[in-house]
Amino acid sequence: MTRGSWKTLILGPYSGPMNGKRIVLGVTGGIAAYKSPDLVRRLVERGAQVQVVMTSGAREFVTPLTFQAVSGREVRSELWDSAAEAAMSHIELARWADLVLVAPATADFLAQLSHGLAGSLLGTLCLATAAPVAVAPAMNQQMWANPATAANVALLRARGVQVLGPGVGSQACGETGEGRMLEPVALADAAMALLPVQGPLAGHRVLITAGPTRERIDPVRFISNRSSGKMGYAVAQAARELGAEVTLVSGPVNLCTPPGVRRIDVETAQQMNDAVEAEVAAAQVFIATAAVADYRPSNPASLKIKKVTDSLDLRMERTVDILHAVAQRANRPYVVGFAAETNDVELHARAKLERKNLDLIAVNEVGDCKGFDRDDNQVVVLWHNGGRQELGEGSKTVLARRLMALIAERYLAARS
Ligand code: CTP
Repeated sequence: MTRGSWKTLILGPYSGPMNGKRIVLGVTGGIAAYKSPDLVRRLVERGAQVQVVMTSGAREFVTPLTFQAVSGREVRSELWDSAAEAAMSHIELARWADLVLVAPATADFLAQLSHGLAGSLLGTLCLATAAPVAVAPAMNQQMWANPATAANVALLRARGVQVLGPGVGSQACGETGEGRMLEPVALADAAMALLPVQGPLAGHRVLITAGPTRERIDPVRFISNRSSGKMGYAVAQAARELGAEVTLVSGPVNLCTPPGVRRIDVETAQQMNDAVEAEVAAAQVFIATAAVADYRPSNPASLKIKKVTDSLDLRMERTVDILHAVAQRANRPYVVGFAAETNDVELHARAKLERKNLDLIAVNEVGDCKGFDRDDNQVVVLWHNGGRQELGEGSKTVLARRLMALIAERYLAARS
């Protein structure tokens, strides 16, 4: 990345995390096919190009015109379609794909695929492609539980086919159980995680802490803080979008793991530190977004504390400063810290940058309804020798992308 190019990266039009990726979406004949046009939309809104390939069974449930309208491409169906073959042969289509995703995948299609049958266009594509193949099974729960289906699925898994779901719940047939196709958003996220990622951070490992920690007072109570983890999760997603291998050490939060990100769940500051210590040697970039408790109860009670006294003193002791410890390591990664300040924001943040021996610090002002547990944020990034960049205002997702682009640029420049 050349100097200043992060501005192009962050200020230019952002076409989505699947930017330009080419997906062949196979649709087979199950009732869940009614959700597949929505899946096309979710993939397209993430920036993917989608070529729909329908089996004849699928056409009984949804018309090709529906898929053409949402994908912007004529649907392929027949192996023996000379006009379509002349435009792009099935072998070219198999080469074109970055991913073949079959959703819904019926029991019949899974059986065909496990036997390598190539009597349909979709079956042929699955055999002829070098791209990853993923299936999203959808069928009656008895059909899913049938040993024949189970054996086919086991064989497909063993051959490297990704099996996404199925989910559990009520089914179109009136029964309840395992066999529902995953929802389009979950499938689009899963598809994203399967795509090979390219970008300036491809081949680089980024370790991120996120969320709050919980420090135990007794078996039923703890001390924590208002961090939602949203910023850390958005930073993890942004790092992944730039091609990095991302490990997220997360305190207790109510958020989905960003696609393609490896997540390690922890609860206390000590557990977070242990997880970071185990992972940090392999990381080239460390980003501490977690709101780690600075103190924890010195002697957590082993039994529930009963309210038998009028007052209660809680003696606290310092926790380990994870960020500082990483920055002190002999072979330290590129280290980025966060600061949340209520006053003299940049003054305090610069002091923290020096004190903790960081490469970069991202600062936001908190209090007066700013910062915590919100979707939007305002961030300034500081580095040594007066370096300063405002990232402007925006949602945490947008700011995280801007921040990650800046981190990538400064980290890569520091290496060269
Ligand atoms: N941090 C950490 N481990 C801790 C405490 C903080 O890794 N035990 C990291 C946070 O993830 C964040 C940065 O350090 O990146 C915040 O610094 P911190 O000293 O916690 O900020 P304040 O608590 O605001 O510090 P002070 O009391 O000095 O204002």
